[in-house]
Amino acid sequence: MKVLVIGSGAREHAIVDALMADDSVTEVVAAPGNAGIAQIVVTHPVDVTDATSVADLTREVGPDLVVIGPEVPLVAGAADAVRELGVACFGPSAAAAQLEGSKAFAKQVMAEAGVPTAMAHVCTTVDEVAAAMDQFGAPFVIKDDGLAAGKGVVVTSDREEALAHARTCLSRDNDAQVVVEEFLDGQEVSLFAVTDGTTVIPLQPAQDFKRVGEGDTGPNTGGMGAYSPLPWAPAGLVEEVTARVMQPMVDAMRHRGTPFVGLLYGGLAMTSRGVRVIEFNARFGDPETQVVLANLRTPLGQLLMAAATGHLDQMPTLAWQSGYAVTVVIAAEGYPAAPRTGDVIGGLEDAADQVNVDIFHAGTSVTDSGEITSSGGRVLSVTAHGETLARAREHAYAAVDLIRLEGSHHRRDIGAAAAEEG
Ligand code: AMP
Ligand code: GLY
Repeated sequence: MKVLVIGSGAREHAIVDALMADDSVTEVVAAPGNAGIAQIVVTHPVDVTDATSVADLTREVGPDLVVIGPEVPLVAGAADAVRELGVACFGPSAAAAQLEGSKAFAKQVMAEAGVPTAMAHVCTTVDEVAAAMDQFGAPFVIKDDGLAAGKGVVVTSDREEALAHARTCLSRDNDAQVVVEEFLDGQEVSLFAVTDGTTVIPLQPAQDFKRVGEGDTGPNTGGMGAYSPLPWAPAGLVEEVTARVMQPMVDAMRHRGTPFVGLLYGGLAMTSRGVRVIEFNARFGDPETQVVLANLRTPLGQLLMAAATGHLDQMPTLAWQSGYAVTVVIAAEGYPAAPRTGDVIGGLEDAADQVNVDIFHAGTSVTDSGEITSSGGRVLSVTAHGETLARAREHAYAAVDLIRLEGSHHRRDIGAAAAEEG
Protein backbone atom coordinates (compact mmCIF):
# COMPACT_ATOMS: atom_id res chain seq x y z
CA MET A 1 0.00 0.00 0.00
CA LYS A 2 0.96 3.62 -0.58
CA VAL A 3 0.66 5.93 2.42
CA LEU A 4 0.53 9.73 2.58
CA VAL A 5 1.58 11.21 5.94
CA ILE A 6 0.47 14.78 6.75
CA GLY A 7 2.59 16.85 9.14
CA SER A 8 6.08 18.17 9.70
CA GLY A 9 7.19 17.21 13.19
CA ALA A 10 9.42 14.58 14.76
CA ARG A 11 6.19 12.63 15.34
CA GLU A 12 5.64 12.44 11.58
CA HIS A 13 9.32 11.56 11.00
CA ALA A 14 8.91 8.65 13.43
CA ILE A 15 5.63 7.59 11.77
CA VAL A 16 7.24 7.67 8.31
CA ASP A 17 10.19 5.67 9.61
CA ALA A 18 7.92 3.02 11.17
CA LEU A 19 5.74 2.79 8.04
CA MET A 20 8.82 2.17 5.91
CA ALA A 21 9.70 -0.80 8.10
CA ASP A 22 6.33 -2.40 7.28
CA ASP A 23 6.62 -4.89 4.36
CA SER A 24 3.04 -4.21 3.28
CA VAL A 25 3.89 -0.53 2.70
CA THR A 26 5.37 -0.08 -0.75
CA GLU A 27 5.65 3.70 -0.74
CA VAL A 28 5.44 6.57 1.73
CA VAL A 29 4.96 10.20 0.73
CA ALA A 30 4.90 13.06 3.25
CA ALA A 31 3.57 16.63 3.25
CA PRO A 32 4.90 19.08 4.08
CA GLY A 33 7.56 17.10 5.98
CA ASN A 34 10.86 18.55 7.11
CA ALA A 35 14.54 18.20 6.22
CA GLY A 36 14.84 14.81 7.93
CA ILE A 37 11.70 13.36 6.37
CA ALA A 38 12.82 14.62 2.95
CA GLN A 39 16.00 12.55 3.30
CA ILE A 40 13.97 9.32 3.31
CA VAL A 41 10.77 9.93 1.29
CA VAL A 42 9.34 12.27 -1.34
CA THR A 43 7.71 15.34 0.21
CA HIS A 44 5.15 17.79 -1.17
CA PRO A 45 4.06 21.21 0.04
CA VAL A 46 0.62 21.40 1.64
CA ASP A 47 -1.29 23.92 3.73
CA VAL A 48 -2.11 21.83 6.81
CA THR A 49 -4.59 24.42 8.04
CA ASP A 50 -6.74 23.89 4.94
CA ALA A 51 -8.75 20.68 4.43
CA THR A 52 -9.09 21.39 0.68
CA SER A 53 -5.33 21.62 0.31
CA VAL A 54 -4.95 18.20 1.99
CA ALA A 55 -7.69 16.72 -0.24
CA ASP A 56 -6.17 18.19 -3.41
CA LEU A 57 -2.81 16.68 -2.56
CA THR A 58 -4.44 13.33 -1.78
CA ARG A 59 -6.03 13.32 -5.24
CA GLU A 60 -2.67 14.14 -6.81
CA VAL A 61 -0.64 11.54 -4.85
CA GLY A 62 -3.23 8.73 -4.99
CA PRO A 63 -2.47 6.95 -1.70
CA ASP A 64 -4.33 3.93 -0.28
CA LEU A 65 -4.15 5.45 3.20
CA VAL A 66 -3.70 8.98 4.55
CA VAL A 67 -2.31 9.39 8.08
CA ILE A 68 -2.89 12.84 9.57
CA GLY A 69 -0.40 13.70 12.30
CA PRO A 70 -1.25 17.13 13.75
CA GLU A 71 -4.45 18.40 15.36
CA VAL A 72 -4.82 21.51 13.21
CA PRO A 73 -5.80 19.72 9.94
CA LEU A 74 -8.01 17.29 11.90
CA VAL A 75 -9.96 20.11 13.55
CA ALA A 76 -10.15 21.80 10.13
CA GLY A 77 -11.84 18.72 8.62
CA ALA A 78 -8.97 17.24 6.61
CA ALA A 79 -9.96 13.65 7.47
CA ASP A 80 -13.54 14.31 6.30
CA ALA A 81 -12.23 15.76 3.04
CA VAL A 82 -9.98 12.72 2.44
CA ARG A 83 -12.79 10.25 3.20
CA GLU A 84 -15.08 12.10 0.81
CA LEU A 85 -12.63 11.15 -1.93
CA GLY A 86 -13.12 7.49 -0.97
CA VAL A 87 -9.60 7.21 0.45
CA ALA A 88 -8.98 5.49 3.81
CA CYS A 89 -7.87 7.94 6.47
CA PHE A 90 -6.31 7.45 9.89
CA GLY A 91 -7.52 10.45 11.85
CA PRO A 92 -10.88 11.60 13.27
CA SER A 93 -13.50 13.76 11.57
CA ALA A 94 -13.67 17.44 12.51
CA ALA A 95 -16.62 16.63 14.77
CA ALA A 96 -14.71 13.88 16.62
CA ALA A 97 -11.50 15.95 16.78
CA GLN A 98 -13.43 18.39 18.99
CA LEU A 99 -12.32 16.12 21.85
CA GLU A 100 -9.04 18.00 21.43
CA GLY A 101 -10.33 21.16 19.76
CA SER A 102 -12.51 22.17 22.70
CA LYS A 103 -11.71 21.32 26.29
CA ALA A 104 -15.28 22.22 27.25
CA PHE A 105 -16.63 19.68 24.71
CA ALA A 106 -14.24 17.01 26.02
CA LYS A 107 -15.52 17.63 29.56
CA GLN A 108 -19.10 17.20 28.36
CA VAL A 109 -18.40 13.85 26.68
CA MET A 110 -16.43 12.67 29.71
CA ALA A 111 -19.43 13.47 31.88
CA GLU A 112 -21.73 11.48 29.54
CA ALA A 113 -19.31 8.56 29.47
CA GLY A 114 -18.72 8.57 33.23
CA VAL A 115 -14.99 9.06 32.75
CA PRO A 116 -13.08 10.36 35.80
CA THR A 117 -11.57 13.82 35.32
CA ALA A 118 -10.83 17.02 37.23
CA MET A 119 -13.82 19.09 38.35
CA ALA A 120 -14.05 22.10 36.08
CA HIS A 121 -15.97 25.25 35.28
CA VAL A 122 -16.26 26.68 31.80
CA CYS A 123 -16.04 30.48 32.14
CA THR A 124 -16.67 33.36 29.76
CA THR A 125 -15.80 36.29 32.06
CA VAL A 126 -12.92 37.08 34.40
CA ASP A 127 -15.37 37.30 37.31
CA GLU A 128 -16.48 33.73 36.66
CA VAL A 129 -12.84 32.66 36.49
CA ALA A 130 -12.10 34.33 39.84
CA ALA A 131 -15.11 32.65 41.45
CA ALA A 132 -14.06 29.22 40.13
CA MET A 133 -10.52 29.80 41.40
CA ASP A 134 -11.89 30.62 44.85
CA GLN A 135 -13.92 27.42 44.82
CA PHE A 136 -11.02 25.11 43.89
CA GLY A 137 -8.20 26.97 45.68
CA ALA A 138 -4.50 27.02 44.72
CA PRO A 139 -2.67 25.78 42.73
CA PHE A 140 -4.84 27.25 39.98
CA VAL A 141 -5.29 25.50 36.62
CA ILE A 142 -6.41 27.85 33.83
CA LYS A 143 -6.91 26.48 30.31
CA ASP A 144 -7.58 28.17 27.02
CA ASP A 145 -10.59 26.28 25.62
CA GLY A 146 -9.22 25.97 22.07
CA LEU A 147 -6.07 24.67 20.40
CA ALA A 148 -2.88 26.25 21.71
CA ALA A 149 -0.03 23.87 20.74
CA GLY A 150 0.43 22.72 24.33
CA LYS A 151 0.93 26.27 25.56
CA GLY A 152 -2.62 27.28 26.52
CA VAL A 153 -2.47 25.92 30.05
CA VAL A 154 -1.14 27.80 33.06
CA VAL A 155 -0.72 26.00 36.38
CA THR A 156 0.30 28.41 39.13
CA SER A 157 -0.29 29.37 42.74
CA ASP A 158 0.09 33.02 41.78
CA ARG A 159 -3.44 34.42 41.64
CA GLU A 160 -2.47 37.40 39.48
CA GLU A 161 -0.65 35.20 36.94
CA ALA A 162 -3.70 32.93 36.72
CA LEU A 163 -6.08 35.85 36.20
CA ALA A 164 -3.75 37.46 33.67
CA HIS A 165 -3.73 34.26 31.59
CA ALA A 166 -7.52 34.07 31.77
CA ARG A 167 -7.77 37.70 30.64
CA THR A 168 -5.46 37.05 27.67
CA CYS A 169 -7.48 34.00 26.57
CA LEU A 170 -10.84 35.75 27.00
CA SER A 171 -9.79 38.88 25.13
CA ARG A 172 -9.01 36.89 21.97
CA ASP A 173 -12.56 36.94 20.64
CA ASN A 174 -16.15 37.24 21.79
CA ASP A 175 -16.77 33.49 21.96
CA ALA A 176 -13.60 32.78 23.93
CA GLN A 177 -13.97 30.38 26.86
CA VAL A 178 -11.62 29.47 29.67
CA VAL A 179 -11.74 26.24 31.63
CA VAL A 180 -10.80 26.51 35.31
CA GLU A 181 -10.01 23.16 36.90
CA GLU A 182 -9.29 21.49 40.16
CA PHE A 183 -5.53 20.78 40.47
CA LEU A 184 -4.60 17.11 40.00
CA ASP A 185 -1.49 15.83 41.76
CA GLY A 186 0.52 12.72 40.94
CA GLN A 187 2.50 11.27 38.03
CA GLU A 188 1.32 11.98 34.50
CA VAL A 189 0.89 9.24 31.91
CA SER A 190 0.18 9.48 28.19
CA LEU A 191 -1.80 6.50 26.92
CA PHE A 192 -2.50 6.16 23.20
CA ALA A 193 -5.31 4.00 21.88
CA VAL A 194 -5.77 3.12 18.22
CA THR A 195 -9.47 2.86 17.37
CA ASP A 196 -11.74 2.28 14.39
CA GLY A 197 -14.65 3.84 16.26
CA THR A 198 -15.64 0.59 17.98
CA THR A 199 -12.63 -1.57 18.83
CA VAL A 200 -9.94 0.02 21.02
CA ILE A 201 -6.31 -1.16 21.05
CA PRO A 202 -4.07 0.55 23.62
CA LEU A 203 -0.36 1.08 22.95
CA GLN A 204 2.34 1.04 25.63
CA PRO A 205 2.13 3.98 28.05
CA ALA A 206 4.64 6.82 27.94
CA GLN A 207 5.56 9.81 30.06
CA ASP A 208 6.09 13.25 28.58
CA PHE A 209 8.06 16.15 30.13
CA LYS A 210 5.95 19.23 29.50
CA ARG A 211 7.83 21.94 31.34
CA VAL A 212 10.75 23.58 29.61
CA GLY A 213 13.19 23.31 32.54
CA GLU A 214 14.84 20.53 34.49
CA GLY A 215 12.97 19.43 37.59
CA ASP A 216 9.70 20.42 35.86
CA THR A 217 10.27 24.16 36.09
CA GLY A 218 9.33 27.00 33.75
CA PRO A 219 6.49 27.29 31.27
CA ASN A 220 4.66 24.44 29.54
CA THR A 221 5.88 23.42 26.09
CA GLY A 222 4.74 20.97 23.43
CA GLY A 223 6.95 18.40 25.23
CA MET A 224 10.69 18.31 25.94
CA GLY A 225 11.22 14.54 26.04
CA ALA A 226 9.58 11.22 26.81
CA TYR A 227 10.20 7.60 27.70
CA SER A 228 8.23 4.37 27.35
CA PRO A 229 7.17 2.01 28.82
CA LEU A 230 6.87 3.07 32.48
CA PRO A 231 8.82 0.83 34.86
CA TRP A 232 6.88 2.19 37.84
CA ALA A 233 3.39 1.74 36.38
CA PRO A 234 1.15 -0.49 38.49
CA ALA A 235 0.25 -3.85 36.93
CA GLY A 236 -3.00 -3.61 34.99
CA LEU A 237 -2.81 0.16 34.47
CA VAL A 238 -3.30 -0.03 30.71
CA GLU A 239 -6.20 -2.48 31.03
CA GLU A 240 -7.85 -0.31 33.67
CA VAL A 241 -7.52 2.91 31.69
CA THR A 242 -8.73 1.18 28.54
CA ALA A 243 -11.81 -0.14 30.31
CA ARG A 244 -12.63 2.97 32.36
CA VAL A 245 -11.52 5.77 30.03
CA MET A 246 -10.69 4.91 26.42
CA GLN A 247 -13.46 2.43 25.57
CA PRO A 248 -16.22 4.53 27.23
CA MET A 249 -15.07 7.63 25.31
CA VAL A 250 -15.01 5.76 21.99
CA ASP A 251 -18.45 4.30 22.73
CA ALA A 252 -19.84 7.72 23.70
CA MET A 253 -18.55 9.30 20.50
CA ARG A 254 -20.09 6.52 18.40
CA HIS A 255 -23.42 6.83 20.19
CA ARG A 256 -23.41 10.58 19.50
CA GLY A 257 -23.16 9.79 15.79
CA THR A 258 -19.60 11.15 15.54
CA PRO A 259 -17.41 8.03 15.75
CA PHE A 260 -13.78 8.64 16.61
CA VAL A 261 -11.47 6.90 14.12
CA GLY A 262 -7.77 7.35 14.69
CA LEU A 263 -5.59 7.82 17.72
CA LEU A 264 -7.18 8.79 21.00
CA TYR A 265 -4.55 10.19 23.34
CA GLY A 266 -5.41 10.15 27.02
CA GLY A 267 -3.38 12.52 29.17
CA LEU A 268 -3.81 11.07 32.67
CA ALA A 269 -2.90 11.95 36.23
CA MET A 270 -2.27 9.12 38.70
CA THR A 271 -3.76 10.88 41.70
CA SER A 272 -4.00 9.55 45.23
CA ARG A 273 -7.72 9.04 44.52
CA GLY A 274 -7.15 7.09 41.31
CA VAL A 275 -6.69 7.81 37.62
CA ARG A 276 -8.10 11.10 36.31
CA VAL A 277 -8.11 12.44 32.75
CA ILE A 278 -6.22 15.72 32.31
CA GLU A 279 -7.00 16.04 28.62
CA PHE A 280 -7.67 14.18 25.40
CA ASN A 281 -5.86 14.70 22.15
CA ALA A 282 -7.15 13.48 18.82
CA ARG A 283 -3.80 12.35 17.41
CA PHE A 284 -0.45 10.80 18.25
CA GLY A 285 1.46 12.78 20.90
CA ASP A 286 4.75 14.45 20.21
CA PRO A 287 7.32 13.47 21.55
CA GLU A 288 5.69 10.32 23.01
CA THR A 289 5.14 8.77 19.56
CA GLN A 290 8.89 8.63 18.98
CA VAL A 291 9.34 6.33 22.00
CA VAL A 292 6.14 4.31 21.65
CA LEU A 293 6.83 3.46 18.00
CA ALA A 294 10.48 2.68 18.80
CA ASN A 295 9.22 -0.33 20.78
CA LEU A 296 6.31 -1.40 18.55
CA ARG A 297 7.02 -4.51 16.47
CA THR A 298 3.58 -4.90 14.88
CA PRO A 299 3.71 -3.40 11.35
CA LEU A 300 2.37 0.14 11.74
CA GLY A 301 0.84 0.44 8.26
CA GLN A 302 -1.30 -2.65 8.81
CA LEU A 303 -2.46 -1.38 12.20
CA LEU A 304 -3.42 2.08 10.96
CA MET A 305 -5.10 0.69 7.82
CA ALA A 306 -7.16 -1.73 9.95
CA ALA A 307 -8.30 1.21 12.10
CA ALA A 308 -9.08 3.41 9.09
CA THR A 309 -11.20 0.68 7.45
CA GLY A 310 -13.05 -0.61 10.53
CA HIS A 311 -11.21 -3.96 10.84
CA LEU A 312 -9.36 -3.48 14.09
CA ASP A 313 -11.12 -6.52 15.61
CA GLN A 314 -9.16 -8.66 13.13
CA MET A 315 -5.72 -7.36 14.24
CA PRO A 316 -3.55 -9.87 16.12
CA THR A 317 -2.35 -8.86 19.60
CA LEU A 318 0.29 -6.15 19.32
CA ALA A 319 3.94 -7.23 19.52
CA TRP A 320 6.50 -5.17 21.45
CA GLN A 321 10.27 -5.22 21.61
CA SER A 322 11.62 -5.69 25.14
CA GLY A 323 13.38 -2.78 26.80
CA TYR A 324 12.82 0.97 26.85
CA ALA A 325 13.00 3.98 24.59
CA VAL A 326 13.90 7.56 25.51
CA THR A 327 13.66 10.69 23.43
CA VAL A 328 15.26 14.05 24.22
CA VAL A 329 14.04 17.17 22.43
CA ILE A 330 16.62 19.69 21.35
CA ALA A 331 14.89 23.07 21.34
CA ALA A 332 15.95 26.35 19.78
CA GLU A 333 17.13 29.27 21.89
CA GLY A 334 14.10 31.16 23.17
CA TYR A 335 11.66 28.22 22.93
CA PRO A 336 8.81 28.21 23.92
CA ALA A 337 8.29 32.00 24.00
CA ALA A 338 10.21 33.18 20.91
CA PRO A 339 12.34 30.51 19.26
CA ARG A 340 15.28 31.67 17.20
CA THR A 341 15.53 29.98 13.78
CA GLY A 342 17.91 29.81 10.86
CA ASP A 343 20.95 28.35 12.63
CA VAL A 344 23.02 25.59 11.06
CA ILE A 345 22.83 22.22 12.86
CA GLY A 346 26.08 20.28 13.14
CA GLY A 347 26.97 16.75 14.21
CA LEU A 348 23.80 15.10 12.87
CA GLU A 349 25.57 12.24 11.08
CA ASP A 350 27.81 11.39 14.03
CA ALA A 351 24.80 11.45 16.34
CA ALA A 352 22.80 9.17 14.03
CA ASP A 353 25.73 6.70 13.95
CA GLN A 354 25.47 6.09 17.69
CA VAL A 355 24.19 2.63 18.65
CA ASN A 356 20.41 2.22 18.91
CA VAL A 357 19.81 5.89 18.06
CA ASP A 358 17.37 7.54 15.66
CA ILE A 359 17.42 11.28 15.07
CA PHE A 360 13.93 12.49 14.25
CA HIS A 361 13.69 15.99 12.81
CA ALA A 362 11.04 18.52 13.87
CA GLY A 363 11.74 22.16 13.00
CA THR A 364 14.43 21.70 10.35
CA SER A 365 14.90 22.97 6.81
CA VAL A 366 17.55 22.46 4.19
CA THR A 367 19.30 25.40 2.50
CA ASP A 368 20.15 25.62 -1.19
CA SER A 369 23.70 24.60 -0.35
CA GLY A 370 22.44 21.48 1.47
CA GLU A 371 22.96 22.63 5.04
CA ILE A 372 20.38 21.63 7.62
CA THR A 373 19.13 24.58 9.65
CA SER A 374 16.69 25.12 12.50
CA SER A 375 13.25 26.37 11.49
CA GLY A 376 11.07 25.82 14.54
CA GLY A 377 10.99 25.75 18.34
CA ARG A 378 11.45 22.04 18.79
CA VAL A 379 14.24 21.19 16.36
CA LEU A 380 15.20 17.54 16.87
CA SER A 381 13.96 14.56 18.87
CA VAL A 382 16.91 12.32 19.65
CA THR A 383 15.56 8.83 20.30
CA ALA A 384 17.33 5.75 21.64
CA HIS A 385 16.48 2.21 22.68
CA GLY A 386 18.09 0.19 25.49
CA GLU A 387 17.45 -2.99 27.41
CA THR A 388 17.07 -0.83 30.53
CA LEU A 389 15.85 2.72 30.81
CA ALA A 390 19.28 3.72 32.11
CA ARG A 391 20.95 2.29 28.96
CA ALA A 392 18.41 3.99 26.71
CA ARG A 393 19.19 7.30 28.43
CA GLU A 394 22.93 6.79 27.99
CA HIS A 395 22.51 6.15 24.27
CA ALA A 396 20.20 9.13 23.81
CA TYR A 397 22.40 11.61 25.67
CA ALA A 398 25.57 10.32 23.92
CA ALA A 399 23.91 11.33 20.65
CA VAL A 400 22.52 14.62 22.03
CA ASP A 401 26.04 15.60 23.09
CA LEU A 402 27.29 15.28 19.51
CA ILE A 403 24.75 17.74 18.10
CA ARG A 404 25.74 21.37 17.71
CA LEU A 405 23.10 24.07 17.51
CA GLU A 406 24.00 27.49 18.81
CA GLY A 407 21.85 28.64 21.72
CA SER A 408 19.86 25.40 21.84
CA HIS A 409 18.69 23.81 25.06
CA HIS A 410 17.43 20.44 26.22
CA ARG A 411 16.60 18.74 29.50
CA ARG A 412 19.14 16.34 31.03
CA ASP A 413 16.59 14.66 33.29
CA ILE A 414 14.34 12.88 30.78
CA GLY A 415 13.48 9.51 32.35
CA ALA A 416 16.07 10.05 35.10
CA ALA A 417 13.84 9.43 38.10
CA ALA A 418 12.19 6.39 36.50
CA ALA A 419 15.56 4.91 35.42
CA GLU A 420 16.34 4.21 39.05
CA GLU A 421 13.47 1.72 39.00
CA GLY A 422 13.94 0.41 35.43
P1 AMP B 1 -3.15 20.02 28.85
O1 AMP B 1 -2.87 20.87 27.64
O2 AMP B 1 -4.57 20.03 29.30
O3 AMP B 1 -2.53 18.66 28.72
O4 AMP B 1 -2.27 20.63 30.02
C1 AMP B 1 -0.88 20.76 29.90
C2 AMP B 1 -0.23 20.37 31.18
O5 AMP B 1 -0.70 21.19 32.25
C3 AMP B 1 -0.52 18.95 31.62
O6 AMP B 1 0.29 18.01 31.03
C4 AMP B 1 -0.28 19.05 33.11
O7 AMP B 1 1.10 19.01 33.39
C5 AMP B 1 -0.78 20.42 33.44
N1 AMP B 1 -2.17 20.32 33.87
C6 AMP B 1 -3.28 20.41 33.11
N2 AMP B 1 -4.41 20.25 33.82
C7 AMP B 1 -4.01 20.04 35.09
C8 AMP B 1 -4.71 19.81 36.33
N3 AMP B 1 -6.04 19.79 36.40
N4 AMP B 1 -3.96 19.64 37.44
C9 AMP B 1 -2.62 19.68 37.39
N5 AMP B 1 -1.90 19.90 36.26
C10 AMP B 1 -2.59 20.08 35.13
N1 GLY C 1 3.28 15.68 24.15
C1 GLY C 1 2.06 16.35 24.29
C2 GLY C 1 1.24 16.40 23.10
O1 GLY C 1 1.54 15.79 22.08
O2 GLY C 1 0.23 17.06 23.14
